[in-house]
Amino acid sequence: MKSVAVDKCRTGDILAEDIFNRYGAVIVAKNTALNSYIVYKLNEMGIQQIRIHDDGRNSSYSDESSTYRKAKEAYRESVSDIRSIISELAAGRPLNVDKVIDISDKICCGIYDSHDILRVLNVEKDFDEYTYTHSLNVAFYTMLTGKWLNLDKDSIRTAVKAGLLHDIGKVKIPIEILNKKSHLSDEEFEEIKKHTIYGYNLVKEAKQFPEEVCRAVLSHHERIDKSGYPFAIGCEKLDIFSKILAVADVYDAMTSDRVYKKRDTPFIAFEMFKTEGVKNFDPKIVNTFLNNVSVFYVGSKVFLNTGETGKIAYIPPQSITEPVVKIGYKYVDLAKDGSRSILCMV
Ligand SMILES: [Fe+2]
Repeated sequence: MKSVAVDKCRTGDILAEDIFNRYGAVIVAKNTALNSYIVYKLNEMGIQQIRIHDDGRNSSYSDESSTYRKAKEAYRESVSDIRSIISELAAGRPLNVDKVIDISDKICCGIYDSHDILRVLNVEKDFDEYTYTHSLNVAFYTMLTGKWLNLDKDSIRTAVKAGLLHDIGKVKIPIEILNKKSHLSDEEFEEIKKHTIYGYNLVKEAKQFPEEVCRAVLSHHERIDKSGYPFAIGCEKLDIFSKILAVADVYDAMTSDRVYKKRDTPFIAFEMFKTEGVKNFDPKIVNTFLNNVSVFYVGSKVFLNTGETGKIAYIPPQSITEPVVKIGYKYVDLAKDGSRSILCMV
């Protein structure tokens, strides 16, 4: 990292430390990509010097960088590997443990830059590939969350394997139920719930994964208030892997297109976690996840209910559901503008 004068910062430079106001509240979070609005606000507050990463700029401000292209290719390769793991299992062959470990190693070995990963996860949303991309996306979100929580390397590997395998039990659920567009009957929902137990058995039978991976696969739909399934166990009985997986699973599911609904914006997902999600998910994990993942969306293009398109200029750490959007030459603070809202990401 290096120290630079705020006046000398360029759009896309990435902050290497949190910036606080005089009351000690974070006003711009670490890893935020700078833009003209943020630089203007820093100047306005009298902040003259900041620290930025010296290893490059946010790729979302430039054309595809070589690291982004590599991340995209590696991601597509892993999707294809997951497709073959699932097809083999569905054909009655055993779980291809070597392939799972190979994908997990690629995710964990640090070849991916966090910004590149998050960009790939947001761009590569192929509806027909949801079954495969969802497993991979959840594995990436668990890896990032593990890093943000400062877990050790072995724990991150465990979390990633659980992410890759969490829905593997769905191979045993009839495809008509999995792809049903209309409301599921009670019996059908009871059948869907069994994917957690089927998944646990498949991973356990493979005899190559730690017990924590098996348990997280079994418990990824459990909730801390005992409202989940298959056993409705509560917070005390859930380990950190199950709780990380629960957040990653729901976030990716909400922000992806499904057979029965269009994707929500990340801001709708943030809102859910901040409201009804409070009782379902571990608060420390949710806050760590939201505070870090939200920063990534600075610079993203959005389409508003007014028909306007804009670019996310700033996401206040205290109010991540209502960003500041640059529309043409003006900055609109959605927290103060009741007439505008984000319809979708562009
Ligand atoms: Fe699941």
